[in-house]
Amino acid sequence: MIRIKICGITNLADAKAATDAGANSLGFNFYEKSLRRVVTADAAQIRSKLPKEIETVGVFVNARPADINSLRAFVRFDAAQLHGDETPDIVSRVSSSLPVIKAFRVDANFSPATLDRYLNAFAFLLDGSRAGQYGGTGQTTDWDFARRAAASHRIILSGGLKVENVAEAIRIVRPYGVDVASGLETKPGKKDHARLKEFIDEVRPILQSPTTAPGRFGPYGGRYVPETLMVPLFELERAYEIAKSDASFQSQLQSLLKNFAGRPTPLQFAARFTAHLGGPRTYLKREDLLHTGAHKINNAIGQGLLALKMGKPRIVAETGAGQHGVASATIAAHLSLECVVYMGTEDMARQALNVARMRMLGAQVVAVDSGSRTLKDAINEAMRDWVTNVRTTHYLLGSVLGAHPYPTMVRDFQSIIGREAREQILAVEKRLPTHLFACVGGGSNAIGLFHAFLRDAEVKMVGIEAGGRGTELGEHAARLAAAQGYAGARPGVLQGTYTYVLQNSDGQIATTHSISAGLDYPAIGPEHAWLADQHRAQYSAVSDSAALDAARTLARTEGIIPALESAHAIAGLIERRAQFTRDDLVILNLSGRGDKDMDTYSRLL
Ligand SMILES: Cc1ncc(COP(=O)(O)O)c(C=O)c1O
Repeated sequence: MIRIKICGITNLADAKAATDAGANSLGFNFYEKSLRRVVTADAAQIRSKLPKEIETVGVFVNARPADINSLRAFVRFDAAQLHGDETPDIVSRVSSSLPVIKAFRVDANFSPATLDRYLNAFAFLLDGSRAGQYGGTGQTTDWDFARRAAASHRIILSGGLKVENVAEAIRIVRPYGVDVASGLETKPGKKDHARLKEFIDEVRPILQSPTTAPGRFGPYGGRYVPETLMVPLFELERAYEIAKSDASFQSQLQSLLKNFAGRPTPLQFAARFTAHLGGPRTYLKREDLLHTGAHKINNAIGQGLLALKMGKPRIVAETGAGQHGVASATIAAHLSLECVVYMGTEDMARQALNVARMRMLGAQVVAVDSGSRTLKDAINEAMRDWVTNVRTTHYLLGSVLGAHPYPTMVRDFQSIIGREAREQILAVEKRLPTHLFACVGGGSNAIGLFHAFLRDAEVKMVGIEAGGRGTELGEHAARLAAAQGYAGARPGVLQGTYTYVLQNSDGQIATTHSISAGLDYPAIGPEHAWLADQHRAQYSAVSDSAALDAARTLARTEGIIPALESAHAIAGLIERRAQFTRDDLVILNLSGRGDKDMDTYSRLL
């Protein structure tokens, strides 16, 4: 979305000069008193001549939401920038149909808390102030204030930016985007094309550097994809931003989660398991009881609804353990979408039950026989399909992986796990847990549990990875367990995101091994990489055989056969049993049930 926005566009020549130079966003000012006001018919004509990926923003001052909508039907701008005294309620109403940039003039009396009241704003534009004047003022904004605001909000810096000062401004503020109008004009509403190009040449490399790109978790995350995927990713980001505040989307989502998937899931006290361990008091978050048998359905429902909103009749998905494939096929059948699932042949053999389920649900399962014939290779093929069929197809990615917005969006869809668990534990134990445990493949069930507790510094979070057969590269899928001797993980880019990746000394992606198909992947979700660097969460790995033993222990103490993935989390807890005190209170995410793994269990146990 908005990174370099050129505002006050009144004619096609300026619009072309701006986009040819590399601007991603253009502003049409509809405020009748503005010196840069554009005639509606001209704006509609300019919009129609611009490439689809260029975003246009309608700029308004105290306009009525209904008027904004009717103008939009004509001009087809992609976002509204509200520059007057609009209340949070007005912003929320406008944002039910398109993303809103709420603009503020920052003067000595402006309070940072004001931004927090505008929950539905997509971004905030901060402008310099001049008494009594609405719209762009040409005055320089307080960069120090903007820098503080940019630490917790999406900030588009505006106000007095020009070729000479913009690099310095970005270095100080680290904004999400910059906006310029008067600084590049020969007269109001007419741009100086040479200066426009100079300005964009100055800004582009800095705003595209890893530390300022969208969807970052510290240095991790980002969006490393071929050009053809940028447009669908922007489209998805925008659709998701709108969906967040769209009442009808939210009510459909809540209804499906409750009536179709079976939420809320119980938080069950595992009394016999606790006694067997000799403490700590352990509660199981029973995601295994959801329809289709794992947490994956939470995300599949959210993205299935988004595909409908975007008018895409076809979804593609990848799957390792088959649970995400089954969840995708399920929601596709329920919402009448065509569904194609890519799956490595190694995984098809070990998760045969799920292959049959997907086919019964009407999905086409495409066997992937390249590379290690597991999840990474399935993702490659799904991305290839997406690039080829992007107009009709949504890529329903199954974990907190891939390019922005996937890691954030999938996390948000899964964070219902932690929100429920937090409420449930407070209701029964009247206190927060001391520890959270979850297995980590890409990391979606783990971050889904962790997210609601991130600000509770006293709650320790533990992610358990696949230690496979040993610590040598190729024998495991442990990306954040170097402290235990698991070799080969370094920061790198895989499948659109910058994160810890298992690789050899030449940077070639390593093969991985895990008994559990859902954990058998060489990279980890970028937010986990960041949580690990900050020591906010701890990560370690357990072996195949420890996971098998743990599955049997849970089956025999609680009468629950866990998925092999979840069995890793149980093994991680069992291995730490000596470190707990009597007061410790654990929530363990039981991400899925073990039906799909019965072949493996019956062979090896
Ligand atoms: C039951 C179950 N748990 C966990 C996972 C791992 O995925 P994630 O780390 O995204 O939760 C999978 C993946 O297929 C799974 O099926």
